[in-house]
Amino acid sequence: MIKKGIILAGGMGTRMSPLTKAVNKQLLPIYDKPLIFYPLSILMLSKIKDVLIIVNKGQLDQYKKIIPNGNNLGMKISYIEQDSPRGLPDAFILGENFIKKDNVALILGDNFFYGQNLTKMLLNCSKLDDGAKVILHKVSKPELYGVAKIDKFKKIVSIKEKPKKFISDLAVTGLYFFDNDVIKYAKKLKPSKRGELEITDLLNKYRLKNKLKADLIGRGGAWLDTGSIEDFYKTTMFVSAIENRQGFKISCIEEIAFNNSWIGKKEILSSIKFYGKCNYSEYLKKLII
Ligand code: DAU
Repeated sequence: MIKKGIILAGGMGTRMSPLTKAVNKQLLPIYDKPLIFYPLSILMLSKIKDVLIIVNKGQLDQYKKIIPNGNNLGMKISYIEQDSPRGLPDAFILGENFIKKDNVALILGDNFFYGQNLTKMLLNCSKLDDGAKVILHKVSKPELYGVAKIDKFKKIVSIKEKPKKFISDLAVTGLYFFDNDVIKYAKKLKPSKRGELEITDLLNKYRLKNKLKADLIGRGGAWLDTGSIEDFYKTTMFVSAIENRQGFKISCIEEIAFNNSWIGKKEILSSIKFYGKCNYSEYLKKLII
C-alpha cells in the first residue's frame, strides 16, 4: 500500500523563460488554478495524504504562500529544495528521510491527467507492495518522452528515454509507483550523457528483475504534459472547456479532500477566507450548502 507521494516541481524552467524567471513553472496558471494543484490532486485521488514537494532552490517561499503545510486539506505536506536539476531519480535520494521504509509514488509537477476510471486506476496502483508500476498512454510524438514497448500480455519488454528511432507509440507518463528499493536503486545510478540521472535507467533496473508493471490510460483518458508555453495554453483550453460545460472543477484540491472525508465544513470555510472573494471561493461555497 502506498501512503507517501513526491511531487517533483523543480527544474531549470528555461524552456518557459521569461515567464519562469521570477515564478516557478508549477505556480503558473492552468486556467483557474496553479499547475501544482493538478499533480497534487492525482496523489490525493490515490488516497495519499503524506506528500513531499521538491522545489527549486530559492522558490520555497512562493509555494508556502499557496500550500503552506496541508492542514487545510487534512494532509501533511512538506518541502525540500533541489539545488540543481540532477534528474528525476534524484527525488528518491533527496526524499530518503521522507520515504523512510515505505513505498512511494512520484508525479512530475508538470503532468496533467484526466478521464473516467482514472480514480479507479489510481486506487489500484496505490495498492502496490512490491516492484514498480508505470502508466502508459498512446501519443503521436513518442520521441518526446520515455517510451515503452509491451508484449501481448502488457509486459514491458523495453523502455527508452526519448528514442530517435521508433520503438512504440506508448509514452511513459510522469506518474510512477515504487517499492522501497527505489532509494537503493536511485543511489546506484550514474548520470547519462546529458548529465542527468534518468528515470528510464531506474525503471530498467526493475524491468530486468521482472518487477516492472504497466497500466494503460486508454483513448478516453487525457494525459497532457505542460512542458512548453504551447502546452500550457492547450491544457488551459481543455480545462476551461470541461469546467464550463459541466460546472465541475478539475483538480479542486479542497473538493477532493472534502470528498475523501479528510476535511469538513470548517476547513472549507477557512479556505474560502484564505482565497478571498473569487470564483474559486464561490465554487467552494457550493460544496457545503
Ligand atoms: O512527462 C513525462 C516525461 O517526463 C517522461 O516520459 C520521461 O521519461 C521523463 O524523463 C520526463 O521527461 P521530460 O523531458 O518531460 O522531463 P523534464 O526534464 O522536463 O522534467 C519534468 C519535470 O520535473 C519538470 O516539471 C521539472 C521537474 N524536474 C526535472 C528534473 C530533471 C525537477 O524538479 N528536477 C529535476 O532534476
